Amino acid sequence: MVDSARELSTSPESTTVVVIGAGPAGLTVANLLRRSGVDCVVLERQTREYVAQRQRAGIVETRAVRMFDSWGLADSVLGGVPHEGILEIRVDGEPHLVSDNDGSHGPTARLCPQQMLVQKLTATYLADGGDLRFEAADVSLHDLTGERPTVRYRAPDGSLRAITCAFVAGCDGDHGISRTAVPEGALTPYAFDHGIGWLTVLADAPPPAHPLLAVSPQGFAAHFPRGPYTSRYYLQCPPDDHPDAWSDARVWDALRTRLGDPALVCGPITDREIFRLRSLVHDPMRYGRLFLVGDAAHIVSPMGGKGMNLALYDADLFARAVRDSVHDRDDTALRTYSERCLRRVWNDQELSHWMTRMLHDAGDATHCGPFQRGLARARLDRLFTSPTAARAFAELMTGMDLTGDAGAPSPTPR
Ligand code: APR
Repeated sequence: MVDSARELSTSPESTTVVVIGAGPAGLTVANLLRRSGVDCVVLERQTREYVAQRQRAGIVETRAVRMFDSWGLADSVLGGVPHEGILEIRVDGEPHLVSDNDGSHGPTARLCPQQMLVQKLTATYLADGGDLRFEAADVSLHDLTGERPTVRYRAPDGSLRAITCAFVAGCDGDHGISRTAVPEGALTPYAFDHGIGWLTVLADAPPPAHPLLAVSPQGFAAHFPRGPYTSRYYLQCPPDDHPDAWSDARVWDALRTRLGDPALVCGPITDREIFRLRSLVHDPMRYGRLFLVGDAAHIVSPMGGKGMNLALYDADLFARAVRDSVHDRDDTALRTYSERCLRRVWNDQELSHWMTRMLHDAGDATHCGPFQRGLARARLDRLFTSPTAARAFAELMTGMDLTGDAGAPSPTPR
């Protein structure tokens, strides 16, 4: 750990915001701060190559696309293709097309894998003259409740550095150091384990016509596009299962059965892992001058695709709050940051929890018992037959659903 000012290789630098982590949250904060004319330095533990290839979420929801648009960044940071607004939910092999587009005016969701967003956010920030330091080791946070916190780290050449700042943006994910810098008891964690595992498989195989979620007596499965000839698949499994137990043949066999598609075209599998479905919220998302953004503050189970979108939401609110504080000396938005983020976090946790239960409970009867299975089937039936239920679902999926908070107001360029 870097713990003594006397060890420093150079005198401390000074900036307005130090951003810890260059994932979707940190890079969005950094780009929006630069657009606002606020100085910042981003410290990332990994190399640029590592961060740029890390594969995860694949959809930027309508609200987040409009957020980037309102900052004039949509063209430069959003790759991928427009999402046409249709999901397929296949139940026992029978297809049901469900809209996840609320029909409102303006740009809509994009199928944009996280690594593409991260690469474009990185390139845009650097082209704009942004300060982004990779391979920053042993990052530690100090004086978070004082007027000028200090962030210390070890540069790739081994030298010890310190940066003083007005704010720290903790964007270093669930396993970062930002949250651990907060004293015990200052944040309350709310955790939930769904008791479900997902085997996730990436393969060079044709994408589905629409993002596809499938309910079957053998368990849940899903098939998502990740590129013109790349697909991501998910298979429900016991949470303590091991990827080695899933040979290629077993994966394709299970997918064909659960998707109800004996003709499913397979291809070489390039990645396979198992993770537990879990949810976590920390309240508040702030300690002194440290603001937690994205996964550092909350984890949402993957159903509904909200994890990355919540990170983008927090980043937008944080950047606008800092802009108000720095340029207008107005700290109102900083004071309400945590409360406003958490409203959306709980809203999206609820959507994700509802979908997770519905799409798993409706399938394998041994998973939750016949009564829960009946309830889950009734929820699906309502979604497929009630226009009102379908509209509410579409609105939730776009992220345009919270009254009084739909879409970001246009930022004032500086
Ligand atoms: N010092 C510096 N950087 C760190 C440290 C540290 N001690 N610990 C972690 N990081 C970096 C990681 O290497 C990573 O690049 O912080 C970044 C955190 O990125 P993500 O985990 O992607 O979190 P976030 O930006 O909040 O993205 C949230 O995107 O990746 C998905 O599942 C994620 O959906 C969620 C969303």
